[in-house]
Amino acid sequence: MSLNKLISEFIEKAREEDDNLFPFIANKKMFNQDRDAIYYSGPYWDDQEIEAIFYSVLKGKWLSAGEDVNRFEKKFSKKFNFEHSVMVNSGSSANLVLIAALKKYFGWQDGDEIIVSCVGFPTTINPILQNNLKPVFVDINWDDLNWNLDELEKKIGPKTRAVFSSPVLGNAYDYQRLLDICKSKKIEVIADNCDSLGSKWEGKYLTDYAVASSCSFYPAHHITTIEGGMVSSNTQEIVDLARSFAWWGRACHCVGKQNLLANGVCGKRFDKWIEGYDETVDHKYLFTNIGYNLKPTNLQGAVGVVQLTKFDEVHEMRRNNKERLDSIFQRIGGLRLLEELPQAETSWFGVPLVCKDKAHKRSLVKYLEENKIQTRNYFAGNILMHPAYIEIDDYKQYPVANEVMDRVFFVGCSPTITNEMINYIELVVDKFISISRKSN
Ligand SMILES: Cc1ncc(COP(=O)(O)O)c(C=O)c1O
Repeated sequence: MSLNKLISEFIEKAREEDDNLFPFIANKKMFNQDRDAIYYSGPYWDDQEIEAIFYSVLKGKWLSAGEDVNRFEKKFSKKFNFEHSVMVNSGSSANLVLIAALKKYFGWQDGDEIIVSCVGFPTTINPILQNNLKPVFVDINWDDLNWNLDELEKKIGPKTRAVFSSPVLGNAYDYQRLLDICKSKKIEVIADNCDSLGSKWEGKYLTDYAVASSCSFYPAHHITTIEGGMVSSNTQEIVDLARSFAWWGRACHCVGKQNLLANGVCGKRFDKWIEGYDETVDHKYLFTNIGYNLKPTNLQGAVGVVQLTKFDEVHEMRRNNKERLDSIFQRIGGLRLLEELPQAETSWFGVPLVCKDKAHKRSLVKYLEENKIQTRNYFAGNILMHPAYIEIDDYKQYPVANEVMDRVFFVGCSPTITNEMINYIELVVDKFISISRKSN
């Protein structure tokens, strides 16, 4: 019997033994509204991912990043139009090595400025600080709840080197305007694409417009490798630098089977690499960057390869779920929904909901949570209000971000949210409406 068959039989038998195995595996169980919570997202997995993990572990000679990771890097690049990608252990790590690589590649100096939104995820901002660069913050635009491009333009100064774009919940804003600004000011566009995998502007992926980009494979995201992230670019040197930073700072770029080449991909593995040292040194242990160890394990690569085959389905399901949830939530008086711009095709990370005031948000969030429907804040809201960032800038300078904190939240639209779950959400929303009517 083949190993693959043995593994799938094992999984089948294990499931017969214990009905509670693999609780997140998509659509395997009927939704029970009295028992089950509706998570805002989760891994959209079936047996294929589990089989890939078993196979990778049973057959792996090295177990850490190797052939499966390399296969995933190549397939991911092909799917999303990149020449090169390097997988790391999280989206946050991807941002960290991405900024480190770009700083070195472009020769940015300590204190040079990168423009970011003050509403978003912390690890878009942290790598700027961790690489001794300066984040310059921009407030939010109330219409599309993404950064304000007029303000962004005004904040560009002589030390600005790049903008780090991170469309919140994957929702593409006026990208053409951003590109025009950056082109005229001769600054780079970097994409934190962790929430936006598959989102498009004018028919092209958002990342097609950026010099380099990052992605996250945390379970909440479009595809998941348990934990994981990717740095991608069409410039090989940027990805090689990112790989070096993620792999202890070493110079060697051999990946997967290339490690078996006697002379490596550089063709001169044993050479006089160190100036002033007259002996040969193995390129594998030549260190050219002050690096980290942010490598993934090989099984994460194996899962990534399977997940990629589901991406198109995930994209459609996220869009369909967003549409259905919008049609339900729009019944709530005073609640505003967000639509994509006509030039955009958004791969929604969640469904943003704008309440009429603080009390409205508080009561709706409380009601949904009490009914086991998970909600999430509009990420950090104004990040500058948070204890870690309070010294960095004055949050009061960003009034719309403060308003977002008060009035905006989101619910999930992941493909793990089934039609039965959405029917239940509809019931809960309708009850909320009738209770609100009675109390008014
Ligand atoms: C925009 C954005 N950037 C970066 C990250 C960090 O990704 P990870 O959780 O994989 O470290 C996230 C988080 O999920 C995110 O939403």
